[in-house]
Amino acid sequence: MTTRSQGAEARHLLQVYGQLPIETTFAEGVYLHAGARRIIDFYGGHAVAALGYAHPDLLATLQAQAKTMYFQSNAVALEVRAKAGDALAGIAPEGLGRVFFVNSGAEANENALRVACRATGRSRVLALEHGFHGRTAAAAAVTWGAAKSWYGFPRTPFDVDFIPRDDPARAAEMINGEVAAVIIELVQGLAGAYDLDPAFVQAVTEACRRTGALLIVDEVQSGVGRTGAPFAANLYNLKPDMLTTAKALGGGFPCSALLMTESLAGTLKSGDLGTTFGGGPMACALVSTVIEVIRRDRLMDNVRALSDEIRKHAITGPVQSIQGKGFLLGLRCRRPAKDIQAALLDRDILVGTSADPHVVRLLPPLTLEKQHVAKLVSALCDIGQ
Ligand SMILES: Cc1ncc(COP(=O)(O)O)c(C=O)c1O
Repeated sequence: MTTRSQGAEARHLLQVYGQLPIETTFAEGVYLHAGARRIIDFYGGHAVAALGYAHPDLLATLQAQAKTMYFQSNAVALEVRAKAGDALAGIAPEGLGRVFFVNSGAEANENALRVACRATGRSRVLALEHGFHGRTAAAAAVTWGAAKSWYGFPRTPFDVDFIPRDDPARAAEMINGEVAAVIIELVQGLAGAYDLDPAFVQAVTEACRRTGALLIVDEVQSGVGRTGAPFAANLYNLKPDMLTTAKALGGGFPCSALLMTESLAGTLKSGDLGTTFGGGPMACALVSTVIEVIRRDRLMDNVRALSDEIRKHAITGPVQSIQGKGFLLGLRCRRPAKDIQAALLDRDILVGTSADPHVVRLLPPLTLEKQHVAKLVSALCDIGQ
C-alpha cells in the first residue's frame, strides 16, 4: 500500500527508504495518530523519541531557547553548551569527562575513529561482526556487511577486520599492537538487540589494555537511559576510552556526542576537530532537559520495571525468546519479523524489524506505561504462533 505522503515524497525525494504503510498526522505521548487510529509506538523513531512526542518539558525548552538564542556557532562560548556538557559528563561512565558535540551518530563515530588513529599512530581498526556504526566513510567502514552492499567508496580510510561476536579467543588473537581501536556496540541494535556476553567484552577490554588499542563503545542506540542505566557501559562495568551517543540525546532534535578520557582529550589542540552545527544552543538546551527529565521522573526505573514485565509476559504467540537490555529488546519469533510487524501494525502497535530476519525490535519511549505493555502482550497472543 502506498500512502498519500509516500506519493508526495516520491515527486522529488530519493526513494532509498522502505517505508511503513501509515499516514501519520500527529504524535503525542507514546502514540502516533494516523487518521482515526492511535498507534502505540514501540519503535520510537529509530530509538530517538526517548520522552515520547510533544513532551511538555521539551516543548517549553524549545520555545524558551528559540526566543533566547536560536543559533550560535562554536566560535562563541555559551552557557547553554557548558551546561549540556556538564549534564552529559555527569551521567557518563567514570573517566569520560570530556565531551565533543556533533550532529549524528555516524559523525560522532567518524570523529572517535579519527582521534583513535591520530592518538595511536596506528592504521588498523577492529569492529564486530553484525555491528552497525553509520553511513559516513569511517563509520561505514566498520559496519558489518556494508562493503558488500552499500559502502560505495573505492577503499576504506584504514584497514578493517571484524571479530566474530562472542568469541573471546579470536578477540585476544586479533587485537594486537597494530590496532588503533576496537569499536563495539554492547547491545547490537540493528542486529536485533543482541547483548554481548560479558566474558567476551572482558576479553576485548583486557586485550585492548594489553596492546594499547583504544576501546570505543558505540552507544548511539543504547545510550541515555535506554538500557535502564545511563549507558550500557554501566551495565558491563566498563571504562572505555571513548563513547559515542546520539538518538535519544536530543529527544528528537538532531545531536550527538563523543565522550573521551582526559588523557585522550589532551592529544587534541585547537582546530583538530570541528563542526558548524554541533553544540548549537537548541540541541544543547534539549540535551540538558532530556537528561533532567530522565532523572526527575525516574524513567530508568520505569525502563527496568517494564522491561522485566515484557520479558515475563511477551514470550507468547509467535515469540520464542527475548534478548537485549532495558528498552532495547529483540523478540525472536518463529515467523519472519516482517510478518509479525505487519500483524502488530494491524492491531495498532508499531514495532521495528532488524537485520536478523526473525527478530522484532522494541525501542519504545522511556515513558511507556504498563497498560501499553499489556496491549503488546495481548496483540501477540491474538496473532498466535
Ligand atoms: C549503533 C549505531 N551507531 C551509529 C548509528 C548511526 O547514527 P546516525 O544515523 O545518527 O548517523 C546508528 C543508527 O542507527 C546506530 O544504531
